[in-house]
Amino acid sequence: MTTHPTRAPHLREMKRRGEPIAVLTAYDAVMARLFERSGVDVILVGDSLGMTVLGYASTIPVTLDMMVHHTQAVVRGTSRALIVADMPFLTAQVSIPEAVANAGRLIQEGGAAAVKIEGGQPVLETVRRLVDVGIPVMGHLGLQPQSVHQVGGFLKQATDRDNADRLLNDARALEDAGAFALVLESIPADVAAAATRLLSIPTIGIGAGPSCDGQVLVGHDMLGFSTWTPPPFVRQYAQLAETIAAAAAVYVSDVKDGLFPERPVSAGTAHDRT
Ligand code: KIV
Repeated sequence: MTTHPTRAPHLREMKRRGEPIAVLTAYDAVMARLFERSGVDVILVGDSLGMTVLGYASTIPVTLDMMVHHTQAVVRGTSRALIVADMPFLTAQVSIPEAVANAGRLIQEGGAAAVKIEGGQPVLETVRRLVDVGIPVMGHLGLQPQSVHQVGGFLKQATDRDNADRLLNDARALEDAGAFALVLESIPADVAAAATRLLSIPTIGIGAGPSCDGQVLVGHDMLGFSTWTPPPFVRQYAQLAETIAAAAAVYVSDVKDGLFPERPVSAGTAHDRT
């Protein structure tokens, strides 16, 4: 595990060395600090926070202010991992000047070292401009949760030849526009493998098979820290929801039964002595 800060260009070197890149999402200082101690290379402050910690049904209600707030917390909890902040719904798509100003807030106020943008062809010029002004950009193709209404659900993408070809063209175009890495979400493993071979920037897969240069999971899903069933491709390394609910239930019964706080061994002893 390296001790010097990981920055965007290091990921391309990791791909060249064949070193797998480990990415997790986090939204607060404590979780981010624990993940960093565990050796994670990149922490993504994903707009998935809308669903994992804010209780929304999709990522669409997440605002730039929310992303800045959570990015600041993650940055306060870390010193080495590369912190990437998601650009939430419509903050990168309305116009290039707006996208620059919005990404600028995530970097300047939030403290992120890079931003992530969903989409291919429609965001290429924006990616180019952000990179030109010094903001590293991670791309995101395949399932794009901000387009859930258009797509009709959280569905696997690039499942036929035309859509797989379109994804590969977009992947190449994002690399040409200057993206330093590319998230591939919920696509067939062979399409992710083809993108990984095609690109010199690293691919980071989520539900995209084993051939990507790195893997990302939503931290809460990986920890079993939720009240819903995670997507089928998630491997759960803990069952925190059960641990938390069981601990809280013991606390509640201790309070109800008068077992917490502990009572002095014999009430009034101090008075008795005087
Ligand atoms: O918002 C997010 O957490 C993401 C990951 C699922 C890649 O975009």
